[in-house]
Amino acid sequence: MRQKLAAGNWKMNGLGADLAEVDALRAAHPAPASQVVLCPPATLLERMAGRLTRTPYLLGGQDCHAAAAGAHTGDIAAAMLADAGAAFVILGHSERREGHGETSAMVAAKARAARAAGLAPILCVGETEAERAAGRALEVLADQLARSLPDGSDAPLVVAYEPVWAIGSGRTPTPDQIAEAHGHLRSELARHLGAGVAGAVRLLYGGSVKAANAAAIFAVPEVDGALVGGAALRAADFGPVIAALDAAG
Ligand code: PGA
Repeated sequence: MRQKLAAGNWKMNGLGADLAEVDALRAAHPAPASQVVLCPPATLLERMAGRLTRTPYLLGGQDCHAAAAGAHTGDIAAAMLADAGAAFVILGHSERREGHGETSAMVAAKARAARAAGLAPILCVGETEAERAAGRALEVLADQLARSLPDGSDAPLVVAYEPVWAIGSGRTPTPDQIAEAHGHLRSELARHLGAGVAGAVRLLYGGSVKAANAAAIFAVPEVDGALVGGAALRAADFGPVIAALDAAG
């Protein structure tokens, strides 16, 4: 059985005052059955870690560099995230792939660096609207996955299916489209990693997940949880998503 996972991606949002939302979330959901990972901007990692000690909540970074250390102004190494209290790191988010020109080969190198630092990568893949319209969604997912996967190993791995057109748009794929994408990713993972290792990989859906659609998305086969952006910023929004995931488990 794969433990359900809800990851909240704060993106470039959040100041110290917003840590009150974390306190409110913990108060409302002190012992979720699902694993909950909060991924704040790097500036808040250490402060958030202080709020989450001796709680079931875990921390994640939003990106890391492929190198262990060195002359990379503005970047952050995986070991630094781990040192600040992170256990996970989001890699290959479409906002990094598109906004920062990250290729899948770069994502794979980052995933190797993450694992070397003891972090579990949350590897994002997703098709654009044009690729889906052209009937290429599954092919794009398989290609991104194959090229982004770190070399074969059974260390913890999470894969997030995030259709680019669903992120921050309020639009979501149909349950059938999510089921098809997740089924395809599971079989591609099995092809690359073997069925045993692939069976332990959590497959998250991401893109406009919120309280109103969470239960329907979590009822889809092969959906082990969600990567949540906008709805992860406020306890009043993220709490119901966690509750829906717990109920689906
Ligand atoms: P969203 O973002 O929930 O705001 O659509 C999801 C993501 O980018 O991970």
